[in-house]
Amino acid sequence: MAEIASPPTLKPSSESYSAKLVDDEIPTVDYCMLYSNDPDQESLAIEHLGQVCQDYGFFYLVNHQIPEKLLDALFKGISEFFDPSTLEKRKVYSKKDPMDRIRWGQNYSSGENREYIKVIAHPQYHFPPNPSSFSDILDEYYKEMRKVVMGLAKAVSKTLGFEESYIEKAFNLKSGFDVSAMNLYPPNYVSKSRIGIPDHTDPGFIVTLVQDVNGGLQILSHKGYWINACIPRHAILIQLGDHLEILTNGKYRSHIHRVAVDRNEVKRISVATLHGPSLDKFVSPAPEFVNEKHPQAYLGMTYKQSLEANGSDEIDVQSSLDQIR
Ligand code: SIN
Ligand code: FE2
Repeated sequence: MAEIASPPTLKPSSESYSAKLVDDEIPTVDYCMLYSNDPDQESLAIEHLGQVCQDYGFFYLVNHQIPEKLLDALFKGISEFFDPSTLEKRKVYSKKDPMDRIRWGQNYSSGENREYIKVIAHPQYHFPPNPSSFSDILDEYYKEMRKVVMGLAKAVSKTLGFEESYIEKAFNLKSGFDVSAMNLYPPNYVSKSRIGIPDHTDPGFIVTLVQDVNGGLQILSHKGYWINACIPRHAILIQLGDHLEILTNGKYRSHIHRVAVDRNEVKRISVATLHGPSLDKFVSPAPEFVNEKHPQAYLGMTYKQSLEANGSDEIDVQSSLDQIR
């Protein structure tokens, strides 16, 4: 058996990649087509999704059914939440108490340039209670996004040639553990670093990202260069997570990404949500993806253990929140 990598994945350092940067090369997937009433269209859309998952590992999702009005209300609510005049109120969420399910931070040093609030979005919701209009919007947003993610789980299962509940069962997604970061990147850059968030991949099934203005996110493509994501307005950027890579034994891969702030002329808000298996779900390469040509490349362990392996010694809510950048 080939050497088994420690989870979640072993990645080559981005230093070994060329610095070439291209402005866009990200495929688009139409969510409605995946559920088209026309069986021919549906199977073409599933085939396209499979190709995109295998060749890219990230894509723009359009026609996803999350109302544009809700997305606009979300960005407005986050912008108001981060209003400079209420900074003192936000600091209440910065204490490192393991029982905190919400964490705020402002990082303008050590290679970052952003303010953020991280929350646990599933199975239980933990949002800042005030203002209540904002927590209502968050509640609605995360519920809508989960519908999209559960729909994608069905479609991705089909791309792999399985019945539509395959991924849902493999990750126990009904009790899936979702953490989310709402980020505010200031215009230009505040610290010496031009990086908003340094290079990383994310654990879980998939990561969903919405943003109010374009620019900033860069993804390291399989071809070895960085792509500036130009996400169409109100579209969702989907990136495959490390645990889909583990489950498929590397057939579908997660990709290194980062946020650059040197091109931001205006402030940017993003919401990145990591949709994971349930904490107790044992995830390992499925036997269907392991054979002589593709020996098992990843260790199996529960999602909780793999979060631990990536973060602190003991799993707690705090270290779960550390899993998302
Ligand atoms: C972004 O804000 O564009 C990305 C955030 C992340 O990767 O966690
Ligand atoms: Fe990320």
